[in-house]
Parts: sequence; structure tokens; C-alpha cells
Amino acid sequence: MKTRQDHPVALVTGSSSGFGLLICVELALRGFIVVAGIRRPEAQAGLMEAAERAGVRERIDPVQLEVTSETDAERAVSYIRGQYRRLDMLVNNAGTALGGLIEEVPAAVWPEQMETNFHGTVRVTRSALPLMRERGKGRIIQMSSISGRIGFPGYGPYAASKFALEGFSECLALEVRPFGIDVVMVEPGAYGTPIWNKGFARMNAAPNSPYRNMLDKVLAFSRKSAEQGGDPREVAGLVADIACMKRPAFRYALPRSTKWTIRAKTALPGRLFQRMMAYILDKA
Ligand SMILES: NC(=O)c1ccc[n+]([C@@H]2O[C@H](COP(=O)([O-])OP(=O)(O)OC[C@H]3O[C@@H](n4cnc5c(N)ncnc54)[C@H](OP(=O)(O)O)[C@@H]3O)[C@@H](O)[C@H]2O)c1
Repeated sequence: MKTRQDHPVALVTGSSSGFGLLICVELALRGFIVVAGIRRPEAQAGLMEAAERAGVRERIDPVQLEVTSETDAERAVSYIRGQYRRLDMLVNNAGTALGGLIEEVPAAVWPEQMETNFHGTVRVTRSALPLMRERGKGRIIQMSSISGRIGFPGYGPYAASKFALEGFSECLALEVRPFGIDVVMVEPGAYGTPIWNKGFARMNAAPNSPYRNMLDKVLAFSRKSAEQGGDPREVAGLVADIACMKRPAFRYALPRSTKWTIRAKTALPGRLFQRMMAYILDKA
């Protein structure tokens, strides 16, 4: 009979909603013990109900994890070390989407965005590496974004944080490879999760701003993309597939439209691609 120690162990950050919640349930269904990082203890009810419905309640182990806190990151990994003695998978998923037009975004927004999406990921990754390295085995799945490959107007802070994550992860992949640890990037386009409403609520321009017209277009385009966005379960399913693969690729972009947009950026001259983006925004 399998004991708890025989199951692979995953740590998922930002597990209270959206992709994180679904990833926890999906990984638990595939046999993982999931240590679910949640920054607000009161926000774990939704995850536990979803786990109960899926019949995997006993495989989800919530821990307090605010990714901007070094103490939380260290404590979460020490807990995993003490309780399970292994960490097979880290899913760096916690994130926020802060935007606005660059000239008008308040100065404090930039470090706030970087602190969660970039420094938070660096912090949790650094805490997790020793445990993975000691066992000579591990996988780190980074929740990047199409905004980590392409900069859209109105998403300066968010794109900066995700581009930083991409660069960091390329370096990390080569540094940890000799220790049996691999790194995989997941780059979703727009999916219907709570992140967009949280982000849109803070995106505004002064009434007589020269960017008013552009911001309206950006918001219209973003709302439409979020409303027509794919089913977040698709992303959670992909993450769980990656977790179970023997040799995953380095990057996965989804849905298909995102994959093609990234390919177009790679293949087309930079100015032509920019004109294409401006045209699409104009038609929103
Ligand atoms: N949805 C999309 O279309 C899309 C596309 C590309 C990439 N992504 C990426 O996917 C990831 C998950 O986002 P989502 O769409 O699932 O949005 P979401 O439902 O808003 O989930 C974000 C999660 O991150 C948590 N979080 C935020 N700041 C945190 C912090 N400082 N410390 C710990 N946890 C924190 C949130 O916790 P609270 O509940 O406490 O706020 C929540 O659990 C993000 O990295 C996002 O950039 C999303």
C-alpha cells in the first residue's frame, strides 16, 4: 500500500483562485500531494471545496505563503522538508496584473508589480532549490504569459515583470540542469480568471490625459480578450501534463492564437509586427 511519503510532492503558489486553484486539484488528481501556498488563510475555502468535490481533499495541504515574504517562503519549504522530505514540483503561479500607460502609471506600481511577479518567484525558487538539488531531481514550472514574450500597450509593468521572469528562467534552466532539475515556461494568452477584473479596476487615466483614447482602446481590447478568453482548466490540465512528462519542452504557449502571435513576432521584422499590433488595437 502507498504511504503519503510515496507520493510526489508539489508546491503551488497563489492557490486561492484562478489557475492556481485548478492546478492544485489537477495535480492532486494525478497523484501529487499538493502543498498549496495561500497568502490569506481565509481564502482557502474555495480550494478546499473544489478539492472535496474532486475527491482529493486529503491530498491538499494548505500553507501560508505570501511570496513577497522571505520568511513565508523559507517557512513553507522547511515545512515541506520536515513533513515530506521531498519536493518534486514547484509551480510559481502567484501573480497580479498591473497596467496603465507608462507615462501615467504611478511610480509605486512598478516595484509593487516586480515584487510579486518577479522577486516573489525568485524568492520561492531560491528557497526550494536546496531541497530539489539534494535529491538530484525536481521540476520548476513558471507561470509566465504572452506578456512575457510580447509587450502590449497598457501593460508596461506587467510585461516588464514577465519579461524579467523569462530572462531569469532561461539562466536558471542552465544553472540547475546539472543537478537534475528542469525548468518549464507556461505562456498563456487571456483566460477567464479573476486577475483581469482586479487589474482593470486599477487602470485609469486622468480625464484630460493625452492617452485617454489609447487607454479606452486598451481596456476595450483587454475586456474583450478576457471575456472571450479560454477555459482556465485548459491551462491547469497542461501544467499537470507537464508535471507528469518525462522530457517536457522548455516553453508552452496556449491557446493556439497565442502560439501563432508569438511565432509571428519571431518571424516578422519588428516594425511590421508593431504595425500589426497597432492595427488590431485600433479595431478593438
Ligand atoms: N488569466 C490569464 O489570462 C493569465 C494569462 C497569462 C498569465 N497569467 C498568470 O497566471 C498566474 C495566475 O493568475 P490567475 O489568472 O489565475 O489570477 P488570479 O485568479 O487572480 O490568481 C492569482 C493568485 O495569485 C495570488 N497572489 C497574488 N499576489 C500574491 C502574493 N504577493 N503572494 C502570494 N500570492 C499572491 C492571489 O492570491 P489572492 O487571492 O490573495 O489575491 C491568487 O491566488 C499569474 O502569474 C498570471 O500572471 C494569467
